[in-house]
Parts: sequence; C-alpha cells; structure tokens
Amino acid sequence: MRIATTIAAAREHLAACARPVGFVPTMGALHAGHIALLAAARAACASVVASLFVNPMQFAPNEDFSRYPRDAQGDREQFERAGVDVLFAPDANEMYPPDFSTYVEVGSIGASFEGALRPAHFRGVATVVAKLLNVIAPDVLYLGQKDAQQTAVLRKLVADLAFNVRVEIVPTVREGDGVALSSRNQYLNERERSEAPSLHRALQTVESALRSGAAKETALERGASALSPLAVLDYLDVVDADTFAPSDGLKAPAYIIGAARFGTTRLIDNLRVER
Ligand code: PAF
Repeated sequence: MRIATTIAAAREHLAACARPVGFVPTMGALHAGHIALLAAARAACASVVASLFVNPMQFAPNEDFSRYPRDAQGDREQFERAGVDVLFAPDANEMYPPDFSTYVEVGSIGASFEGALRPAHFRGVATVVAKLLNVIAPDVLYLGQKDAQQTAVLRKLVADLAFNVRVEIVPTVREGDGVALSSRNQYLNERERSEAPSLHRALQTVESALRSGAAKETALERGASALSPLAVLDYLDVVDADTFAPSDGLKAPAYIIGAARFGTTRLIDNLRVER
C-alpha cells in the first residue's frame, strides 16, 4: 500500500493505478462498516484508493472534532489488510491551506434533519468530498447507507457539479443486536450501549406499522414509543430516498430515518423501504 500525505504524491500514485479506481473516503476509526465499503471496492475495481482525514470543516465548534477517535496506525493496518492500493492521508493544512476560501453549498437537501441540527455539517462534507474527488478522480465512489442523508447530498453534488464518478451505496453493517456500526459507538457507556438497539427497533416498528397499513403519523408514534425512555429522540421520519423530502413511505424508494441521543452521544440510523 502506498501512502500519500500530499495532493501531488496522491496524483502521482493515482497515475500508476489500473482503472477502474474505487474510492472510499473515511475519517478513520475503522470498523466493519468501512471494511464492507473497502471490500465492495476491492471486488469491483482494479484499484482501491481510500482517504483518511478527520475533516474539521464538518464539525461545529461544540461538536466532537477534538475527541473524535483517532488510531492512525491501527487504521493503516486495516486499510492494508483490506487490499487498499493507495491511502491518501493529508493533514488539515494540505486540504485547507490558510488562504482556503471556496466552499460547496448544498441547498435544501442538506437543510433538514442532520442539516437542521448540524447547520454547517453538509457544507463541510460536500466541500471535502468535492476536493477529494478532484484529487483522486475515481471511477466509483463508495458510501455507507448508515449516513443516508450524506449519501443523498453527495449524489446531488455529483449530479449538480457533473463529477465523472458513479456512486455506490453499501448497506449498513449491524451488531448482532441491531445497532448500526459507527465510530461514535465507542463513546457509549455500558448502560447507553444496552439501550442503543432501541433506535433500530423504533425504525423497524415504523416499517412494520406502515406495511400493515397504518397512517404515517400513527406509524411514527408507534416507532417513537419503541425507543428507550432514557434516549432523547431528535427526529423520526419517512423521507424520499433521493430528495430527503417528507414521504408517506408508500412510494419507492424511501428511508425511515431516526436520530436519538443516548447520554451525550447522538446515534443516527435508517431503513430503506423498497416497494
Ligand atoms: O462519512 C464520513 O466518514 C465523512 O463524512 C466523509 C464522507 C469521509 C467526509 O469527511
């Protein structure tokens, strides 16, 4: 595995890569969800490129940027084992030199749900991913379904700005009790971790209520009551999978989305509804 810490070195390594190139952007703290993305890229592409960059621009000042889990050495070993050909691991100065001043505004698709609770988040995600796509110029971009709104925002980025890349969404990997894998799960204490599966249960409850013919509002009420009373619900809704506009869940494809706080840790999750 070649490791590039500068844009120039990444481009040099990329020039030697066989096509198609599959690209998996990450912020490190790798778990089985990331490994599934890397495996999907490895299976379909001649070369696999990953990035490791904890992007300060997508964290608000009160969020967890400084304590976001970092394990550069462990991550590097996992990237290597997953068959990554080139790892792009820039520092913040390489991505955002002091005179950096150009940002990608994502519009209404990123204004609701995660975007409403984390106002500059998707601007930071779209800006860094646009820059990463320009550095790597991959043929396929692999994203995890767990961050469903992020996938919708980035699909729109690719379409609106005509990036020459195909976007592949890889299904969420879950623990045995249903909890979606996330680097932030390690913030949960034992009690919070034991309550965390209730977010997935809430989504499943909404899905089965909708499938049995309940109206959306009733289905959402039943879902909310499946959440642990110790958790604080940020939102639970059904949205169109492409636009993230509210949906009644009866038109395909949709996501049932939820976010809840367990102590100080926010978890998000979703189920895709195909009709
Ligand atoms: O999903 C993530 O880990 C990040 O938002 C991403 C896509 C790597 C951009 O920093």
